[in-house]
Amino acid sequence: MPPEHPNLVVFDHPLIQHKLSWLRDRHTGYRPFRALVTQIAGLMVYEVTRSFPAVEIDIDSPLEPTRGLRINAKITVVPVLRAGLGMTAGILDVMPEARVGHLGLYRDEETLEPHAYLERLPSDLGAGPVVLVDPMLATGGSASAALGMLRKAGATDLRMICLVAAPEGVERIRRDHPDVTVYTAALDRQLDGRGYILPGLGDAGDRLFGTE
Ligand code: PRP
Ligand code: URA
Repeated sequence: MPPEHPNLVVFDHPLIQHKLSWLRDRHTGYRPFRALVTQIAGLMVYEVTRSFPAVEIDIDSPLEPTRGLRINAKITVVPVLRAGLGMTAGILDVMPEARVGHLGLYRDEETLEPHAYLERLPSDLGAGPVVLVDPMLATGGSASAALGMLRKAGATDLRMICLVAAPEGVERIRRDHPDVTVYTAALDRQLDGRGYILPGLGDAGDRLFGTE
């Protein structure tokens, strides 16, 4: 955790950084972009799930009975549409037992305020850990609103995964949701005048879905 951001975990693993560099490259088209987002999200799951509750179980293995661990939690992954969908595919590859809720939010390009247009969540969201997924944490307005919606729907054990975070967004989450740890592949320098992350990777939704 960087000392100035105690709510942040940055993945410095070279494999994740290698893939992130391809994402930042403006010449990476939407097909490889999508595949890379999926792969990075899958790699990040290992650390994000480290604190999930596990129980010891008996296993009837072919040679002799043994003991093992099984994650004992009703996990819910919640992508923020649109861009969160790309990461969700990678998370579900590794954690297929997770349930998926959906939040639709878009950021007004002028005011940078988030607007919610969809909420589809399991009714027992409080039954286990909830992972909010959105590749870009810029001003933090969308993530903060999304976390507020999850809390209102009953979630108590919350964390967030993104790909690129701006210091402004990390600080906003610390202020509005002090109990939430943010996991990111990169902490970038700053926001530009239009609220884009610098150096960032551009508009994640457009690059993911080929709508540039
Ligand atoms: C992007 C991104 C976040 C938000 C981040 O979504 O995926 O949801 O912006 O910005 P913020 O931290 O300043 O709120 P966008 O609004 O572009 O919607 P899209 O994914 O549908 O393109
Ligand atoms: N949303 C994006 O997709 N990219 C940014 O840099 C900021 C917000």
